[in-house]
Amino acid sequence: METIEAQDPLDELLTCRLDYGRKAVEPCTIVIFGASGDLTARKLIPALFHLFQEKQLPDPVRIVGFARREKPHDAWREELWGALQQFSRTKNIPPADWAAFAQNLFYCQGEFGDAGAYQRLKLLLESFSHESLGKNLLFYLSTSPSQFAEIAEHLSRSELLTRSESKPGWQRVVVEKPFGHDLVSAQQLNQELTRFAYEKQIYRIDHYLGKETVQNILMFRFSNSIFEHVWNRQSVDHVQITVSEKLGVGSRGGYYEEAGALRDMVQNHLLQVLALIAMEPPVSLEAESIRDEKVKLLKSIRQLHPSQVASNVVRGQYIAGQIDNSNRIAYRQEQKVNPESNVETYVALRVLIDNWRWSGVPFYLRTGKALPMSASEVRIQFKPTPHVLFAAQCGPRLDANAITLRLQPNEGIFLRFNGKVPGTSLQIRPVRMHFSYDSEFGAYTPEAYERLLLEAIAGDATLFIRRDEVEAAWGIVDPIRESWKNLKLTERELYSAGGWGPEAADDLMLRSQKWRKPHPLP
Ligand SMILES: NC(=O)c1ccc[n+]([C@@H]2O[C@H](COP(=O)([O-])OP(=O)(O)OC[C@H]3O[C@@H](n4cnc5c(N)ncnc54)[C@H](OP(=O)(O)O)[C@@H]3O)[C@@H](O)[C@H]2O)c1
Repeated sequence: METIEAQDPLDELLTCRLDYGRKAVEPCTIVIFGASGDLTARKLIPALFHLFQEKQLPDPVRIVGFARREKPHDAWREELWGALQQFSRTKNIPPADWAAFAQNLFYCQGEFGDAGAYQRLKLLLESFSHESLGKNLLFYLSTSPSQFAEIAEHLSRSELLTRSESKPGWQRVVVEKPFGHDLVSAQQLNQELTRFAYEKQIYRIDHYLGKETVQNILMFRFSNSIFEHVWNRQSVDHVQITVSEKLGVGSRGGYYEEAGALRDMVQNHLLQVLALIAMEPPVSLEAESIRDEKVKLLKSIRQLHPSQVASNVVRGQYIAGQIDNSNRIAYRQEQKVNPESNVETYVALRVLIDNWRWSGVPFYLRTGKALPMSASEVRIQFKPTPHVLFAAQCGPRLDANAITLRLQPNEGIFLRFNGKVPGTSLQIRPVRMHFSYDSEFGAYTPEAYERLLLEAIAGDATLFIRRDEVEAAWGIVDPIRESWKNLKLTERELYSAGGWGPEAADDLMLRSQKWRKPHPLP
């Protein structure tokens, strides 16, 4: 670890770089299964291209696409060039940069279940000139989870993936969410995958962990004593975690009918953010220490018996409404959605954490589609001041302090406190201190997938979900699902598109707590 003085001598800021010890990225081949899929075109290739442009990828590197349809290498490159122009986070991509990147792209046609296809893949890898390109292998399974085990088995049989630590080079498997659809299926998937790869070779993605603002939660909490001192039940009244989406399900109705908001958002993104917000300080910054603390936290969440679900969890589904003055159809009218669907597009829950730090502090989590704005934020709501002085006179109009971590968009952190309104009369009102990523660091916001791919190539698993984490998270949401089985959504659980969810969500709030809307813009 080294401390560097900032460039400007007048600037008293110090930048402490912690990644000098980071492993160097070694020449390798990235094999993407599902090479013609949406995720590859929208996220993976743009992320790899930007890493290449910024010279962060190893040199040499190869990227091999594996999918069912027959096409020459050039046809895949052409397809990806079109996708990059559409989905890149930067515009006007220099064609020369693309040409340099594209010569590392290769396509391998095959069915996931066809052993011959893996032999063709092997021959292709062996044809690469640099020795490491054939032995350092990152397999990215951008496919349906039902295909993970089959692919891993074929990779293992063809000796492209081995559990032997004596084999030269490394092989890692990156798997996309959803990781199972309940605890039993996740355990089964874990068992199947670990037949062919060690746990430390498996990188389970939750793209939320690749977001700068989510990574910053640990820095914010554990590098600032002023916040760490108040991060506990003595000071915090409650915590709200909101992930709201303006969009409805659009063309993803088929997928959503199987998932619903609880599986799609709560089991992974919201519980991951909760774990980072509430976990104890890890003993070191090593991946395993951080993941150990996250698992401990998830395991201290009070499990709900199905009979307790109704008083702690509210679900909802959007009906027709208006967002930004345009009409929106009901969920049940969306493409590929059952007109009598009972699937939830909104979930709010009250979570209690049974540990020393958080005992008695409710954590309110909510997520939904067709809400008035798209925003992800965490609000730490502090306890009110004692009922004397200003509080005695103002009552509930004296708002308690709050820290909001805005994860997206308008990334930043706000501290809300009370101040005197200038003038001769004595008036108090809330004011805000605001740190904005854009104004502090400029508008550079790398995509989450860039960071995640780089970490997987470097072999750092901190930002990926460990087996026990994924299973603990399913353990929390499974009883909720179970209790909803065969229960039809009631009128009270329907909400108009453009509203903040069903009214029933207000019933979750204890004492005088209330849901706070994400702040629109700074
Ligand atoms: N799309 C997203 O934004 C997103 C976000 C988060 C997670 N995910 C997850 O990422 C995974 C991939 O999603 P996606 O949207 O990219 O899927 P997709 O668009 O349906 O693409 C599936 C890919 O798999 C290939 N494929 C399917 N069956 C095959 C078989 N039997 N043999 C060989 N190739 C086969 C297809 O190849 P052909 O085209 O040649 O048939 C295609 O390349 C899913 O698990 C999804 O849940 C996606």
